[in-house]
Amino acid sequence: MQLQPALHILKSRAPFIPELAIVLGSGLGGLAESAEAKAGTSISFTELPGFPEQSVAGHSGKLMFCEFEGRKVVLQAGRFHYYEGHPLDVVTAPMRLYGRLGVRAVLHTNAAGAINPDFHVGELMVISDHINFMGTNPLIGPNVPPGPRFHDMTTAYDKPLRQQLHAAASAINMRLQEGTYIAVTGPNYESPAEIRAFRILGADAVGMSTVPEVLVARHEGLRVAGISGLCNMGAGILPVTLTHEDVLAAGAAAAKGFEALVRKFVKDLTL
Ligand code: HPA
Repeated sequence: MQLQPALHILKSRAPFIPELAIVLGSGLGGLAESAEAKAGTSISFTELPGFPEQSVAGHSGKLMFCEFEGRKVVLQAGRFHYYEGHPLDVVTAPMRLYGRLGVRAVLHTNAAGAINPDFHVGELMVISDHINFMGTNPLIGPNVPPGPRFHDMTTAYDKPLRQQLHAAASAINMRLQEGTYIAVTGPNYESPAEIRAFRILGADAVGMSTVPEVLVARHEGLRVAGISGLCNMGAGILPVTLTHEDVLAAGAAAAKGFEALVRKFVKDLTL
C-alpha cells in the first residue's frame, strides 16, 4: 500500500501533530462521541487513498484530531482487522502514518477474552507482552525504514507508560490487571482446547487485533501501550457459548471505566 498520498492528506488537514494516538477498540469507541472529539478535526478513512471501507459491526473508521485532557491527541475510531481480509500493510497503515506524522506514542485498546482464571469480565488489562499466534507478520517483505530488518520486541510495551496506566487506575480506584495478550487471526472464537493451550503458553487474554499494529508501531519507533477490555471469559472456561453481541455489550458495560482511565492517563501523561 502506498502511504504517501494518505500522509499528504493528513499533513495538510491535521490541525497539529498529536503527541499521542489512541486506537479505540470494539465497544470502547465511546470516546469518539466525546465533546472534545466532536470539536476536533475529523478525517474519515474513506478520505485517505488506499484505505478500505469499514465493515465489521462496532467500527466506524475515522481519525479525530482533538485537544483531550489538555493534550493534543488523535483518536482512531475503528481499525482494520486481518480477519476482514485486509492485507497486513493496510491493517498497520495507521501506525506507519503516525510514525511519519511525528506522533510519539500509541495507546492501543481492544476487546479480548480473558484466559487467566483470576481475571473477571468487565475488568481492564494492561498488556505487558504479547504472543503473535497469527502465523504471519506485517514486517514480512522488504524492510521499510526507519526500523531495522530485525527489530527488538523485548521492551515493546513501554514500562513507564505501563506504570502511568497503573498510577492512573489507582488514582481513580480502579482495579487494573496486567498480562500477556495472545493474538489470533479469528474470525471464529477459540475452541476450549485452544484456550487451554494458550494458558499453558502463558497468555492471559486473547484477541484478534493489536499485535500487527504494535509490531509496526515499534518498527516506526513509536512508544506503545495497550489495554484490553476483558469482554468474556475464553471459550470453555464458563459453560456458555460466545457471541459478538455479548462481547460488544460487555465492552459497552466496561466503557465508562475505560474512558475514566484513559482520561486520567492522558491528563497526567509524561512522554
Ligand atoms: N477471543 C478472541 N477475540 C476476542 C474474544 C475472544 O474470546 N473476546 C473479544 N475478542
